[in-house]
Amino acid sequence: MTKLNRQWRLVRLVEGMPSLDDWRLEDRPAPEPEPGSFLARALFLDVAPYMRARIAPVRNYAPGVRPGEVMIGGAVARIVASRAPGWKEGDLVVTDFGFGWQEYALLRPEAVRRVDPALGPPEAFLDVLGLNGATAWFALFETGALRPGDRVLISAAAGSVGQLAGQLARIAGAVPFAVASTSAKLAWCRELGFEGGIAHRETPDLANALRALVPEGVDLFFDNTAGPIHDAVLQNLAPRARVVLVGTVSLADRLGRPDIGPRFFREILVARARIEGFLVLDFEKRWPEAWARLADLLRSGRIRTRYDVLDGLERMPEAFLRVLRGENLGKQLVRLAS
Ligand SMILES: NC(=O)c1ccc[n+]([C@@H]2O[C@H](COP(=O)([O-])OP(=O)(O)OC[C@H]3O[C@@H](n4cnc5c(N)ncnc54)[C@H](OP(=O)(O)O)[C@@H]3O)[C@@H](O)[C@H]2O)c1
Repeated sequence: MTKLNRQWRLVRLVEGMPSLDDWRLEDRPAPEPEPGSFLARALFLDVAPYMRARIAPVRNYAPGVRPGEVMIGGAVARIVASRAPGWKEGDLVVTDFGFGWQEYALLRPEAVRRVDPALGPPEAFLDVLGLNGATAWFALFETGALRPGDRVLISAAAGSVGQLAGQLARIAGAVPFAVASTSAKLAWCRELGFEGGIAHRETPDLANALRALVPEGVDLFFDNTAGPIHDAVLQNLAPRARVVLVGTVSLADRLGRPDIGPRFFREILVARARIEGFLVLDFEKRWPEAWARLADLLRSGRIRTRYDVLDGLERMPEAFLRVLRGENLGKQLVRLAS
């Protein structure tokens, strides 16, 4: 019997802050596997800030979703019917972008990785053992050239990438500091080993607060947000500081418009600092290297991650808006089945 596939389709490209009615839920018959493919049913759907730029009418590093199409997204999923040799019913797979906001997807082996339950729980493959783990790893150790003793400032520190980056920096002998919206989020960061932090929604003068927190200046800025937090850190750089632009989540309501703030470019000269954009896709060949190390750290309990899970496909737009509003603590996911 044909299965019903509920899916979220994009209604329109979005210029300002997205809202719940930018997607509509539709029922379609689930496709049958063709030779060389399999049908998989989502256990967890990914929810991540990169999705914002995929629905904006702006230039990006990857193609966007067009109105009427199923919204882009990754998932951990279980194969329910297969015509791909070596891939059988019950196998668990993960895909970073190729699933979509839906219950079922037709996938090909080259578009997925296997989920090895010995390495971590299924949801970890959308977090520490997935793109976000690789992001924290390569942005810190490669682009950021992290050194022991570095004072590392991480924005969106209580989120998926941030919570990992802080712990990895500490393990590598550096001193991580957090910027997160609230004291409750900072408490979680301290539990993970961050030295201290700033609650950006509770602090009117970020630049001064940062000066008090890290008087020697920031050696490595792991920038997940852009916006006013970025401006404040640029006024507090240590000599030879590295600024790694990992994400711009604070621009969610004005993508494509100029990000206007105080301009402190002289600080770059004075500090002889370097600013570099980071894209995890550039490190694809080396992801397994990072995951092997991260899986060891996870197994030995040296790193921990927190998940923020909503239940039910119908909550996808809500979950996405939570991330853009900073309402998530830890990795945001939506669970469809267990
Ligand atoms: N370049 C790459 O290859 C790559 C790969 C993966 C992820 N990323 C980026 O890494 C960043 C973190 O991603 P994630 O998946 O770990 O998300 P996340 O941190 O779990 O969630 C996003 C967080 O962003 C913060 N935020 C939202 N609006 C903000 C605003 N206006 N000002 C300041 N902070 C705001 C919120 O934290 P607070 O409540 O603390 O403000 C929110 O919890 C994102 O920018 C993402 O695009 C980049």
